[in-house]
Amino acid sequence: MAKDDNGGKDLTVSGSSDALHGEGSPGTSVVASDAFVDPGFPPHRLRATDTDPKKERRAEREVYTLFYLSIVGSVFAVVAYMAFPIVPEDPTSVRLNNLFIGLGLALAMLALGIGIVHWGKSLMVDDELVDVRHPVRGSDESRARAVEIFQEANEESGFGRRTLLRNSLIAAVIAIPLPAVVLFRGLGPQDQDPVANLEHTMWKKGTRLAIDPTGTPIKASDVTLGSSFHVIPEGLQDLAHGKLEEKAKAAVLLMRLKPEDLNEAPERRDWSYDGIVAYSKICTHVGCPVALYEQQTHHLLCPCHQSQFDVTNHCEVIFGPAKRPLPQLPIAVDAEGYLIAQSDFTEPVGPSFWERH
Ligand code: FES
Repeated sequence: MAKDDNGGKDLTVSGSSDALHGEGSPGTSVVASDAFVDPGFPPHRLRATDTDPKKERRAEREVYTLFYLSIVGSVFAVVAYMAFPIVPEDPTSVRLNNLFIGLGLALAMLALGIGIVHWGKSLMVDDELVDVRHPVRGSDESRARAVEIFQEANEESGFGRRTLLRNSLIAAVIAIPLPAVVLFRGLGPQDQDPVANLEHTMWKKGTRLAIDPTGTPIKASDVTLGSSFHVIPEGLQDLAHGKLEEKAKAAVLLMRLKPEDLNEAPERRDWSYDGIVAYSKICTHVGCPVALYEQQTHHLLCPCHQSQFDVTNHCEVIFGPAKRPLPQLPIAVDAEGYLIAQSDFTEPVGPSFWERH
């Protein structure tokens, strides 16, 4: 044995002691003994529930109370869904709906999780075992042994014996997906046909284009070359109901390019005014607002999944998952110089999905 220079660890020297100074014969090895000693198991300490039947029963009560609490949480979430419905245009109703459904789900999942952990830690058998590694493929004997282990686990966990715990756990697990069932109902058919709903927006012949969000009408002379505007129909701000829904369909992007940069189809030549064009701001992929205009390239970018639309070519898709161009709003100028719509959009706005009847 010798000591190394730094840590003073034991070294086992095989061959001449000169090896430590680099003078040993070839093949001499210096092997450091294992730096870590196997600490083994600490002394086993019995839990309170192992030695005191009263504490064991108390732990059992706590566990099934938690499982029942989980059921209460699940039922609460379902009741909250019905008791606090989302009322259109009422943000408070959205907040209350989300708050109470969330509280119910949180209680259901927390109580179920804590109950399972509590059961495992305080009531299931607390033996420390060594599992020796063995080949992955099991022999018939090992398979039979696996069955035995399951049976032992069943015996030791009390899953078969403690029927109250087991049944309350099963009931809690069954109750947990119930809120999801009622929440998925929201994805079901709506009262209104979405296609018809998206085929019509607030735009109609003569509606002035106004700045979002002020509602100030836009004159053609205000739109300088290279500029872009976020646009809403004039009068949107005055709507008593459905303001957000109408805006979600009617939002438009307005840009001015050099007229010679526009490759306009013959039938759409009069849809623009002196290089000013207007396109729906609702992405045809899944409906995000296409809000980024690259002035140099004349590309519109949707930040959600990076679809890009070429404004010079009727906003055709040049990149990304969108499958059809942004709908164009035909525009003109009224007698006072304000930009107006010639009509509504001629196709549904938003995701292409809505076009598939
Ligand atoms: S919503 Fe625009 S790219 Fe997906």
